[in-house]
Amino acid sequence: MAGEQEVILSGIRPTGQLHYGNYFGAIRDFVRLQEAGHYCYYFIADYHALTTITEKEDFFRQTLDMLRTYVACGLDPRKSLIYRQSDLPCTAELTLLLGMVTNIGHLERGTTYKDKLSKLAETPGAEGNPLSYGLLGYPVLMAADILIVRADKVPVGDDQRQHVEMAMDIAQKFNHRFGEVLKVPAPVSREALRLPGLDGAAKMGKSEHNALDLLDDPETVLRKIKAVQTTTDPLPLDVESDDPDVVSPRMPTTVGVLYRLLSLLAPEDVYSDFLGKYRRGEKFYNTLKTTLAQYVSAFNAPIIERFNDPAHSDDFVMDFLRENARKVTPVALATVEACREAMGIGRALFRA
Ligand code: TRP
Repeated sequence: MAGEQEVILSGIRPTGQLHYGNYFGAIRDFVRLQEAGHYCYYFIADYHALTTITEKEDFFRQTLDMLRTYVACGLDPRKSLIYRQSDLPCTAELTLLLGMVTNIGHLERGTTYKDKLSKLAETPGAEGNPLSYGLLGYPVLMAADILIVRADKVPVGDDQRQHVEMAMDIAQKFNHRFGEVLKVPAPVSREALRLPGLDGAAKMGKSEHNALDLLDDPETVLRKIKAVQTTTDPLPLDVESDDPDVVSPRMPTTVGVLYRLLSLLAPEDVYSDFLGKYRRGEKFYNTLKTTLAQYVSAFNAPIIERFNDPAHSDDFVMDFLRENARKVTPVALATVEACREAMGIGRALFRA
């Protein structure tokens, strides 16, 4: 167990098939933290997935596929503690308790909630206010995830920072009212890269159909990359720098994506060679695409192989999920019991 070591915690919503945006935005960093010797808790936020549910989805299947992909990318269940949120149902109990010290006004100012609200306002036919109590309470559930395991640090991308700050706030309010029971965590910024979509959209996303998947076979990779639009004339780069952060935003968006990917996957000389071609205005898009497709396929190949390795079957994933739920439960229950006691209802006399 963690002992005196710092606990780093992050949650991942189950989405099934993972793409390059997920890899460079999160997975790579999770593996890096793990390899740097930190004690990391990573969990699948399947209760959170339910906050926007409209019809039944197979979140369990998606969780298994996702974890098999994470493992194939280097996340190691022997080094990191990987569990499923819903296997720790006392998280729901803590959510209820924390809800007693959370202001509704505070939740209504949450950006995720506000975004959803304004999107709904634009949706014709969205009757009344179909926002759920669960969605409004999203940050309380997230606070429970963090506080229940007494996490020290929570690495998140910018979009989740406000949620972590809300968790800190809830913990402080609780401690102020009932005594120093909860550990107040600190957010840490992840070196997350926001990868644009293959269609040039600001973000690569599963539902946007503009994603390159980690499990795409070479044929699919080639088809997707060939379909990237490169008919626009190159824009002058007017900078000396070869840094992809500097040059890719100066290119037509879809071309910028190709260069961004090349910079991540190919050796530097290949990248600078193609950048030279761009600067000189040569005709090269065809070779750029086939070259990039080769690097993407080479990147995917070992991931696909490990994903399909019989040693990494569904059973393997279920086994470590079960095992880890067993490990975190005492830690989590200790927090819940301490909160119950502090609030005055006393410890549970019975637990299923
Ligand atoms: N809300 C996070 C996301 O969408 C997932 C998440 C749930 C999380 N609980 C968490 C992240 C606790 C960090 C800590 O990405």
